[in-house]
Amino acid sequence: MQSEKKTRYNYQGINLHCTGRKGLTYMKKIILTGDRPTGRLHVGHYVGSLRRRVELQNSGEYDDIYIMIADAQALTDNFDNPDKVRNNISEVALDYMSCGLDPEKSTLLVQSYISELTELTFYYMNLVTVSRLKRNPTVKTEINMRGFHTSIPVGFFTYPISQAADITAFKATTVPVGDDQLPMLEQAREIVRSFNSTYDEVLVEPKALLPDNEACMRLPGTDGKAKMSKSLGNCIYLSDPPDEIRKKVMSMYTDPDHIRVEDPGKLEGNCVFTYLDAFCREDHFEHHLPEYSCLDELKSHYTKGGLGDVKVKKFLYAVLMEELEPIQARRHELEKDIPAVMEILHKGSQKARETAAQTLSEVKHAMKIDYFG
Ligand code: TRP
Repeated sequence: MQSEKKTRYNYQGINLHCTGRKGLTYMKKIILTGDRPTGRLHVGHYVGSLRRRVELQNSGEYDDIYIMIADAQALTDNFDNPDKVRNNISEVALDYMSCGLDPEKSTLLVQSYISELTELTFYYMNLVTVSRLKRNPTVKTEINMRGFHTSIPVGFFTYPISQAADITAFKATTVPVGDDQLPMLEQAREIVRSFNSTYDEVLVEPKALLPDNEACMRLPGTDGKAKMSKSLGNCIYLSDPPDEIRKKVMSMYTDPDHIRVEDPGKLEGNCVFTYLDAFCREDHFEHHLPEYSCLDELKSHYTKGGLGDVKVKKFLYAVLMEELEPIQARRHELEKDIPAVMEILHKGSQKARETAAQTLSEVKHAMKIDYFG
């Protein structure tokens, strides 16, 4: 059979898709992103990605939005802890919906339900070399963190290929993620180029969409040392009770040399200010700290000396709670009916599966393994 060559154009910002037979067609703008269900989501997830997803959802600019709970990927390094993954499916779904992801506008899905993703992964494996996988900097870091050096599970080692399947199954054009996911996006783009040139132009090259603010990109843990991680116990979870959030904020790492209020304070590595960079808006000053008009003014007082940590921390707590209160109120409502939450995931997964099945059939056709029609 004559293969149908496709070319892509961009006309005045509109993505067009030219197929030999169909002529010019509008190319959809599609978002796909997701999280591993290994714990409740924290404020790092919120400023790094969740908040943006909700804005993108409500912008009306996207034709389809898929948000994936990546349980199969979570099992690649938690295969011996299935209860942890299972229990966090609804927790992550609750976090999604309480932040404003709306199942009417975004498809919420569970990765393992869509077996087509596993099939795509197997075919993509032919297009990636072992040495290419070994160079993935995020995988390298994760291998060190998990002490896998001498015995890396194959499933874990190849998860970037499975992530490429997640993205391409939905022909995602846009993947909103943190910068730790850039190597996965690059791997996905390479697979797309290799597939399209080897077989046929079936797959779409995705682009990453990064947070626009440095503090949001890498919100440190409350200890100021690293990114938030559950194992380090340095996270503020979206669903933490307010008194726990207060405790965590009041014990946050600041400038260890800022001992007396009069001392000049340092901003670098001072995570109270990093959190303010990520969360604070000018109207927060009006409401909670009217002596200052903006963050720059607060920062310059701090660096000159005369501003104590406790005052800044109390302000940060107020700012955080202003953002988190409505999220927590919605979560409390949603928590009352977990079966309804699971039903939303079931419906979303069924819908997503149809899309993935369509892509898989195009992939098999291009690879000439569609023997029986
Ligand atoms: N790797 C991502 C994480 O650890 C989760 C994920 C799985 C993902 N599949 C994806 C993110 C596809 C973006 C696109 O958080």
